[in-house]
Amino acid sequence: MRHQWISRIGSRFGGQLLKYGVVTGLAALVTVGALALLLNILERKREAQNPFFRVVELTDETTDPAVWGKNFPIQYDSYKRTVDQVRTRYGGSEALPRTPTQADPRSVVAQSKLEEDPRLKTLWAGYAFALDTREDRGHAYMLEDATFTGRQARPQPGACLNCHSSVYTAYKKLGDGDIMKGFERFNALPFAEARKLVEHPVACIDCHDPETMQLRITRPAFIEGIRQLKAREGIPDYDVNRMATRQEMRTYVCAQCHVEYYFKGESKRLTFPWTHGIKIEEILAYYDEHGVKDWNHAETGAPVLKVQHPEFELWSQGIHARSGVSCADCHMPYQRVGAFKVSDHHVRSPMLNVHRACQTCHPWPEDELKARVHAIQDRTHQLRDRALDALMDLIADIRAAREAGLDERGLQEALDYHRKAQFYIDFIEAENSTGFHAPEEAARILAEAIDFCRRGQTALRKLATSGGPTTAALARDEANDL
Ligand code: HEC
Ligand code: HEC
Ligand code: HEC
Ligand code: HEC
Ligand code: HEC
Repeated sequence: MRHQWISRIGSRFGGQLLKYGVVTGLAALVTVGALALLLNILERKREAQNPFFRVVELTDETTDPAVWGKNFPIQYDSYKRTVDQVRTRYGGSEALPRTPTQADPRSVVAQSKLEEDPRLKTLWAGYAFALDTREDRGHAYMLEDATFTGRQARPQPGACLNCHSSVYTAYKKLGDGDIMKGFERFNALPFAEARKLVEHPVACIDCHDPETMQLRITRPAFIEGIRQLKAREGIPDYDVNRMATRQEMRTYVCAQCHVEYYFKGESKRLTFPWTHGIKIEEILAYYDEHGVKDWNHAETGAPVLKVQHPEFELWSQGIHARSGVSCADCHMPYQRVGAFKVSDHHVRSPMLNVHRACQTCHPWPEDELKARVHAIQDRTHQLRDRALDALMDLIADIRAAREAGLDERGLQEALDYHRKAQFYIDFIEAENSTGFHAPEEAARILAEAIDFCRRGQTALRKLATSGGPTTAALARDEANDL
């Protein structure tokens, strides 16, 4: 109808009017655009002012978040809500009651991953993770969960607390004001000693400059890791606190902890394996180059690695990272409180907050958004199941070959595939978004893992048919030994 009407007018008054119409339309668009921009600027200005009342003076020694909360009650209130435990299909956490004991006073814990999937006990056989591994829960619990996890049955280093506490002032004290020196001394302490130096889970001072409230990086391991990563990308002498954009900082503050790591050498220096990059094969190349293993697998003897929470690394391979969407955009979305727009400090699963976490950018209905996430997660989870089954088969076959009398040297190729497959599967298992942070990359990694298992089994079959390692393989090993 409308279309017909326009074309009728068009033909009656001819091109003249049409041109006039286009010009008026354009002018109107420009006006609307300018107005929108103006409104936007005004809004930004008001947000930038975001006045707060300095009730108390905050210094670079103020660790207690309750004190900061006097100046910033809205952020503090939402920060405190990280005690909430709500389960989503694959994330969040259940609040399981338990009877406190002297050794472990916790009366509520998150559900056990080992009970959810007993294959994980085989995956981690011989390592502390096979004793106790649970779902992650809110930041409020980080200090007690690290202190009382069943993994403490094996001695754990103080370096754990780099990511499980508000450690910034402890570094300063230990290092006489120099956080790098403090960091080194802190890492070398046994857990119980380091534990005495910290009091709170991650707190305001760990992410904010007390004077300007700007975001800042306080963790030396990230300062060093990101410098190496940027150097590889052709940016020398990267100083994250000086050179990162505000949008990057909205991811980097989280990437201080939500990354794969290891403790390097006797000094237990917390280290991010990023000199070759942060894609999975680049991380494994680093570990291979430095001869790093976490333990020898109890069933096969393979020198294997435990992957831990590579959220930053997986996110980096996804469409949201590519589009400049930060961790905080989804996990700390803005909320309107009165006249202000504040960041939700109740860091949690965005599935519990789709309205603010996603709908600001995607005009899709809430159910549709959830369905898209679930579709990705269901597929990732099914693929992970297949990959775990494949690995269980490889582990059983290597064990059988060992029982049949084959030694390390004969098994070398299969053990190497075990190390690789285990690393790839654990990368997705330990990453906490069940594929959402980078769906295609998660699928690629699991597909490659299944292929590694297949190759490992093929290597064993070759041994079985030839009655032992081939002479060529032995000669090669001999040459390598020299
Ligand atoms: C585009 C939105 C988005 C971005 C950006 C994003 N995440 Fe997520 N994240 C999700 C979704 C969705 C889940 C799945 C939650 C679930 O299953 O309940 C998730 C899950 C998680 C979980 C597990 C949460 C739980 O409840 O168990 C962690 C931890 C996490 N993300 C950290 C990060 C970090 C760190 C970054 C930045 C490096 C990041 N995320 C970037 C959307 C995002
Ligand atoms: C680089 C930072 C970092 C270091 C170092 C670190 N953690 Fe964690 N830890 C995390 C993050 C992030 C989570 C939440 C995500 C997850 O559970 O995968 C977590 C979760 C946990 C949990 C709860 C989930 C579970 O596995 O039961 C425990 C317990 C834990 N860590 C213990 C430790 C211990 C013990 C050490 C020292 C060996 C340690 N952590 C070292 C970052 C770290
Ligand atoms: C100091 C280290 C540290 C920093 C910094 C940090 N996290 Fe965490 N995060 C953890 C640990 C440890 C846990 C698990 C605590 C537990 O299970 O006891 C965790 C848990 C989570 C969870 C799971 C919450 C739930 O209810 O299941 C999410 C989501 C998350 N973090 C996202 C983020 C985001 C986003 C940022 C940046 C804004 C961030 N974290 C910064 C260490 C950190
Ligand atoms: C894990 C890191 C982290 C911790 C811990 C943290 N914040 Fe934030 N905070 C952020 C991020 C990310 C932003 C968004 C900053 C930006 O966009 O520039 C933010 C923003 C703010 C702002 C600016 C206004 C706003 O809401 O966007 C204030 C004020 C603030 N936080 C106060 C606090 C207080 C008070 C605490 C302690 C109770 C705290 N923060 C703990 C990460 C953190
Ligand atoms: C700050 C903006 C922003 C936020 C917040 C955000 N997204 Fe996105 N999302 C994007 C952009 C940009 C893309 C890239 C595709 C595009 O340009 O439309 C994208 C793509 C996607 C895609 C399609 C991926 C593909 O391969 O086609 C899905 C699904 C998605 N987002 C879901 C979510 C969910 C769920 C949340 C909340 C947990 C969320 N997004 C939060 C900006 C955002």
